[in-house]
Order: sequence, then structure tokens, then C-alpha cells
Amino acid sequence: MNRGELLYEGKAKKLFRTEDPDVVRVVYKDDATAFDGKKKGHLPGKGEMNNRISAFFFRYLAEKGVDNHFVRRLSPTEQLVRRVRILPLEVVVRNRAAGSLAKRLGLEEGTSLPRPVVEFYYKNDELGDPLVNEDHIAALQLASPDQLEEMKHIALRVNGLLKELMEERGVILVDFKLEFGLDREGRLLLADEISPDTCRFWDARTEEKLDKDRFRRDLGGVVEAYREIWRRLGGEIRD
Ligand code: C5P
Repeated sequence: MNRGELLYEGKAKKLFRTEDPDVVRVVYKDDATAFDGKKKGHLPGKGEMNNRISAFFFRYLAEKGVDNHFVRRLSPTEQLVRRVRILPLEVVVRNRAAGSLAKRLGLEEGTSLPRPVVEFYYKNDELGDPLVNEDHIAALQLASPDQLEEMKHIALRVNGLLKELMEERGVILVDFKLEFGLDREGRLLLADEISPDTCRFWDARTEEKLDKDRFRRDLGGVVEAYREIWRRLGGEIRD
């Protein structure tokens, strides 16, 4: 694969141009950040796990009819995805209270929610990614009401599919974050990544954390936990 021009470098990924203007190459990095970049770490092997797990989830979702940006995995740490313009919104779905929701509403971490909670956050580093409602999104013109409705619908469908998939593998899907983009024709497409960096996964028996909270909370064994998720998904490490 030709080394195309670097288009973007984020906290955990790099994006490169390819010969196809509608396709970009994503390289998953071993770096981790948390708390608006205030906490930084280097976790050898994380990039490979997130690339594999993300590719697995995107392929699974596509098979179930949830269109997304994934094209194919290129190598242990790289994948090709369709080029989209990412909307500045994070869509979070929660099945149990944890993290910022537990804190904001004073709920004990792990409390089951009677129905999934969908939240939108405005992606803005200077503002610290604030929680926004549909009126805020309209006021800032971050997405149209139709796009918002579609994102919510897709997010709940992804939740249903991944919750069941993980349950079968002895893992609780506590919550996760999705991002969406618009392709050249303006079609909304599920994008970014779905990995232990962007989901909370707990072992169903022990409630042990198998996700980025191990890094956020200095619990150790971060990459080992990501490997465990990959193993539960039936993953092997060959190429
Ligand atoms: O921190 P909070 O509880 O709001 O996170 C909810 C979910 O969204 C968690 O799974 C977390 O990993 C994910 N998230 C993310 N990127 C962010 C904020 C949250 O992947 N910038």
C-alpha cells in the first residue's frame, strides 16, 4: 500500500490519503489519552487490538444491515475506511450508569437503566465536549433534525446488536460512543471506531472492567483486557 499523505492525526489514530479519493487508510496507534488529553500513556499492542476489534464490530454490523465506513482490514494495525466528513457530535448509548452519567445523576456505578439512554456531546476540545440536547444541536447547526433522528435510530440498533453479541460472550456492554460522518453524496454513515477505547465492557461474572477505564483509573492490565475482549470475540492473532 502506497504511503499516502497524512490527512489527520488524532489521539489514537492517524488517517492517510489513498489512491482512491473516497477511501482513507486508518492507522491505530498505541497512544492513549484521557481527561481531555491531560492524562497520556503509551500502551504497546493497543493499536493492534483496537484495529482488530473495530474491524470485527464494523463487519458484524454491516452483516446485520447497519451500513458503516469500514472497507477492509489491511494489516494488524491498519484498515481502509470510506472517507467521510465527521459530524462534531459524539453519540453515547448507555445500558448501565457509569462514568459521567453516574457522576452527573448521582447514580451508583453499575445501576441498570430501565431503558437505554442516548446522549449527544458536542465535540469541542476548548469546551470539554459538553452534553447537548436537540435544541442546542439545532442552534449550533451541528446536524439536521432528520440526521439526529437517524443517528439515534442507528445508535439504538447498534446497541441492541452489540449488547446481544457481547452477552453471548460473557461481557456486559455498559455503554459506548459512536461517531457519524457524511460521505461525498451527503449520506449519513456510521464511522470512527468501536473498541475498548470507546465502549465500557465488564466481565458478566466478575464485573471486572475490560476497557479504557483500566487506563483512566490506573488499574493496570490495559492491553491484557483488550486482548481478552478480542479473545472473547473469537479472535486469533496470526498476521
Ligand atoms: O465518560 P462517559 O461516561 O460520558 O463515557 C461514556 C462512553 O463513551 C464510554 O464508553 C466512553 O469510553 C465513551 N467515550 C468516548 N470518547 C469520549 C467520551 C466518551 O469513547 N470522548
